[in-house]
Amino acid sequence: MTLEDADVIAGWAADEDFCRAAEWSLGLSREEHRQFQARLICSPPSDLVRLGAVLEGQLVGYLALHGDEPHRRELGFLIGPRTLWGRGLGRATARAGLRRGFEEMHLDEIWAEALDANHASIRILQRLGLRETRPGEPGNYRDQPTYYRQFVITARPDEPPNTPRPQWCGHRREAFTAHAAERTVTSGSSRSERRQCR
Ligand SMILES: CC(C)(COP(=O)(O)OP(=O)(O)OC[C@H]1O[C@@H](n2cnc3c(N)ncnc32)[C@H](O)[C@@H]1OP(=O)(O)O)[C@@H](O)C(=O)NCCC(=O)NCCS
Repeated sequence: MTLEDADVIAGWAADEDFCRAAEWSLGLSREEHRQFQARLICSPPSDLVRLGAVLEGQLVGYLALHGDEPHRRELGFLIGPRTLWGRGLGRATARAGLRRGFEEMHLDEIWAEALDANHASIRILQRLGLRETRPGEPGNYRDQPTYYRQFVITARPDEPPNTPRPQWCGHRREAFTAHAAERTVTSGSSRSERRQCR
């Protein structure tokens, strides 16, 4: 990602409903958001891989693979602005995260969590084949109390973790169909990242 992207992301944050749905801090100025994003882009934490989703030349979201375990990461994803929701971009972006994690980073396992009331996010994780593991902590979605649900997907469920894999051998290979290209970046939408935002 580039510094220009920091400004685009900061623009999404001007929409309070977007911030509530994304669990971003409310009440920060556009400049504060821009600076925060600029720092993540220029000096990303070592345990974070973030990729921008680009549609027709515009940044429309990003995915994040976060965590310091060698073979396991948390997937986060986000689409902005809110007017782009409901067009399949969220699923395409999350799917790209799985592909990046398994095919290029050679992870054994990717986990994710979403608030129960965040139906689109839950639906994406389920449709991409992640298996629900256990309920997580309580949380709020758009000011309503709810709780986190945790999901996991392994590269190959019938093999123990860390089994060497010469090539892709996991869930279905699917193309990133939403015309969303990737650009290498740094930062994201997982809970651990959101904590950094506060
Ligand atoms: C969650 C988010 C990424 C979804 O993005 P999106 O581009 O709208 O998602 P999609 O268009 O791919 O829709 C995904 C699925 O959710 C469904 N969906 C969308 N909004 C819904 C709603 N309000 N209620 C129920 N289902 C909904 C869609 O119908 C689709 O299901 P389908 O594939 O079976 O048709 C987006 O809302 C977002 O960025 N939210 C803030 C950040 C966030 O919550 N990230 C996820 C946590 S890591």
